[in-house]
Amino acid sequence: MQNFTFDIPTVIHFGKGQIEKLGGEIAARAHRVLVLYGGGSVRRNGVYDAAIRQLQAHSIAWVDLPGVEPNPRIATAREGIRLCREEKLDGVLALGGGSVIDCAKCVAAGALYDGDPWDFSAKKAVPEQALPLFTVLTMAATGSEMDSIAVMSNPETCEKESFSAPCCYPAVSILDPTYTYSLPAFQTAAGTADIMSHTFENYFSPVETSYLADSLAEAILRACVRYGAQAVKTPDSYEARANLMWCASWAINGFLNMGKPVGWSVHRMEHELSAFYDVTHGVGLAILTPNWMRYVLSEGTEHRFARYGVEVWGLDRSLPQRELAEAAIEKTRAFFSSIGLPATLGELGIGPKHFEEMARKARTANFDRTFVPLSVEDIVNIYRLSL
Ligand code: NZQ
Ligand code: ZN
Repeated sequence: MQNFTFDIPTVIHFGKGQIEKLGGEIAARAHRVLVLYGGGSVRRNGVYDAAIRQLQAHSIAWVDLPGVEPNPRIATAREGIRLCREEKLDGVLALGGGSVIDCAKCVAAGALYDGDPWDFSAKKAVPEQALPLFTVLTMAATGSEMDSIAVMSNPETCEKESFSAPCCYPAVSILDPTYTYSLPAFQTAAGTADIMSHTFENYFSPVETSYLADSLAEAILRACVRYGAQAVKTPDSYEARANLMWCASWAINGFLNMGKPVGWSVHRMEHELSAFYDVTHGVGLAILTPNWMRYVLSEGTEHRFARYGVEVWGLDRSLPQRELAEAAIEKTRAFFSSIGLPATLGELGIGPKHFEEMARKARTANFDRTFVPLSVEDIVNIYRLSL
């Protein structure tokens, strides 16, 4: 295990009815907040009304910013920053999934930054301060409710880039699993694939001595397999929704990569798919992941996939290692299909036209330090395998 620092300042209130704590938490830190939400799901499922009742009960003023897009756009964050400055707001409240929360992080940091917020994504600046951020999560997927990352898109330049800074952790997040009952099966499945992908990115690392983190990763993957399928079939299963929600937060809050280098290769490849084709993040990951696994499978890596097969899929550990590894990869592919996710880029109408450019943009120096180093050519090959 390598050295690490673990410091998550986010207060989590988890469970049914925990929205009751929202007003008090905000009032302790802010008086006037920007309320961000997406295309209207929070208006339909009661989350918006419940949050506004909290603001009213604690005499907190607010300004709405609806219409945050899935794969949130930098133009929307600029609008939020303008509102924060004009209306003299001192806090940001996000009601929604990862897109709304990420946009809220960009607004919270951008409001206190003397420059354009795309500078964060372009790595020209790192946020040093941010308005306090509060989140009410409505979708188990990205873990943005308990991490310091935001991913913003700029459709004009076909760019989708992340940034991260300690000031971007939410101050308080409300995680009520019942708020995810209204999530459509397709988004439930995409969210499950995203949680699993975060776990894979951490699990498949060149350092294999983080036994505690790896065992938790396996538990999260088993929970995703069990409860992802259950939530798709039975959207109002509290047990399924609650387990998925807590898995989402822990898959990316830093615990799983403690003491090891992580390349986030499949995520880098997926972000280019979203940048060029605006695909749903979890769908892109579900398509790329089994093909990435197959591509990096070798004599040197098969033991890791074999362990994954035994611990997550319950495969018979007495089978030959290569057989176990291949079966584990096929189980992964079959699981994503079983919960209704597409298996090929062709199904999304995506062809090879931009693969070279996407691969060049996706590849960072991290690709040299990851589980299996990948060149631009390797990335193109993985895109091609996914067609
Ligand atoms: O816009 P609304 O109407 O709210 O509808 C949303 C949206 O259409 C809908 N939805 C969310 N909760 C719902 C609901 N519909 C009914 N009932 C509910 N309870 O679901 C759709 C997708 O929402 P979105 O927020 O886009 O999904 P997700 O949480 O998967 O976020 C995806 C974004 O997060 C980024 C992704 O790249 C993508 O841009 N990521 C953020 C990360 C982070 N901050 O750490 C890491 C991830 O790897 C990821 O890259
Ligand atoms: Zn992700």
